Amino acid sequence: MSTAIATTHKDIDLSARSFWAKPPEERDEAFAVLRRENPVSWSRPAESDLLPPELNTKGFWSLTKQADIRMASRHPEVFSSAQGITMEDFAPEMIEVAQSFIAMDAPRHTQLRGITMDAFKPKNMRRLEGWIQGHARDLISEMSHLGEGDFVDLVSVKLPGRIFGSFFGLPAGDIHEKTIDAAQRLLGWPDPEVCAGRSGLELFGGAVMELHEVASQLIPERRANPGDDLLTWMVQAEFDGKKMTDDELRAFFVLLAVAANDTTRHASAHAIYALSKYPEQRDLLVADVPGRIGTAVEEVLRWASPLLHMRRTATQDFVIGDKEIKAGDKVVLWYISGNRDEDVFDEPFTFDILRNPNPHIAFGGGGPHFCLGAALARTMLKSLLTEVYTRIPDISAPEPGFLVANFINGIKSLPATWTPERV
Ligand code: HEM
Repeated sequence: MSTAIATTHKDIDLSARSFWAKPPEERDEAFAVLRRENPVSWSRPAESDLLPPELNTKGFWSLTKQADIRMASRHPEVFSSAQGITMEDFAPEMIEVAQSFIAMDAPRHTQLRGITMDAFKPKNMRRLEGWIQGHARDLISEMSHLGEGDFVDLVSVKLPGRIFGSFFGLPAGDIHEKTIDAAQRLLGWPDPEVCAGRSGLELFGGAVMELHEVASQLIPERRANPGDDLLTWMVQAEFDGKKMTDDELRAFFVLLAVAANDTTRHASAHAIYALSKYPEQRDLLVADVPGRIGTAVEEVLRWASPLLHMRRTATQDFVIGDKEIKAGDKVVLWYISGNRDEDVFDEPFTFDILRNPNPHIAFGGGGPHFCLGAALARTMLKSLLTEVYTRIPDISAPEPGFLVANFINGIKSLPATWTPERV
């Protein structure tokens, strides 16, 4: 680890955009300092252009220990999701149109999640395994002969995009491209390069509108011509005798498009990067891919923590450690920190693909919002990494371009080289 930054917790400013532009190792070190010296800390309002400055007035608590994160995740009656799930605030109308049930509490959350649950059960995912493997195989066949290229463009963006497209029954072509592009842009709001002259709110709002346009086109089509896809399921499904409204369907489409595409995309890029940075771990994997892929994927998830945080809002006064949280305070659950917690992991800063057990919280700390797509994400990552490390095992990509972001742990570009596969 670098020793270039924070020597005391007072130097650490999680609200600063500049903090999120630092290399991951420096951010990890800052979280280690917080865990040690000030595990429940207060920050000023996050620097943000998602709200006008006069409305961006709320600071936030940070939970950095895994036990506290798990506790908060499992007590939704105290730690509500309904006022937003990011440390930066959005206007309530934006939450309503873009975040669906991830930003709701019971009973509305239970009802809407209940409608979708069956489609994501691990049993159903196992049925899809062969189909997902086929996508991964095809994708690697398209690039394995090249010998070099940007892994993000060639693979990371494409695999979740294709799987999401088939899952939702998106017609190939423009609609598919538009959906995947908007979904993968949306969480890049703190990154000036992704914003390309727009404000963060313009970027986010524009991507949400594009996704709504696609959903508005598809919803009536599926009502008229039901298919064998998730959107048809959602349009028809009932829970407690109720169907989803069009507004609920559109917001759900945005949530799933982003949750499914961006997280897995960055996780796969982090996998290739980590296995390039630690070639002895890559060699271990390559020596026995079927036997080691399971633990390797869990370690990638811990290491990458593709979602850096989720946020809750306290519904009542509550004490954590030596801090008094007040009703209405924002509380941020730092998964990236809980996944390096020295009280949970031996040698947390060692990337170890044989780590077992590996009680990471990359999919959340348990409780009602636990990631609905965990089984799908695991299957995608296993299939993809199995193809990569059996067919182009010497792939090396040591110099990623990181996304500036405080919500998603992103890799924008990953120039890679490998020995071309003989076809
Ligand atoms: C590596 C990939 C992924 C990671 C790291 C990840 C992580 C997470 C996390 C941390 C949460 C919030 C948990 C909480 O608040 O307690 C979440 C929620 C969610 N995820 Fe994922 N996710 C991934 C992939 C996916 C995929 C592929 C899908 C869908 C196809 C998906 C759908 C969802 C949904 C719908 C929620 C909201 C659940 C709720 O509020 O009830 N995720 N995910």
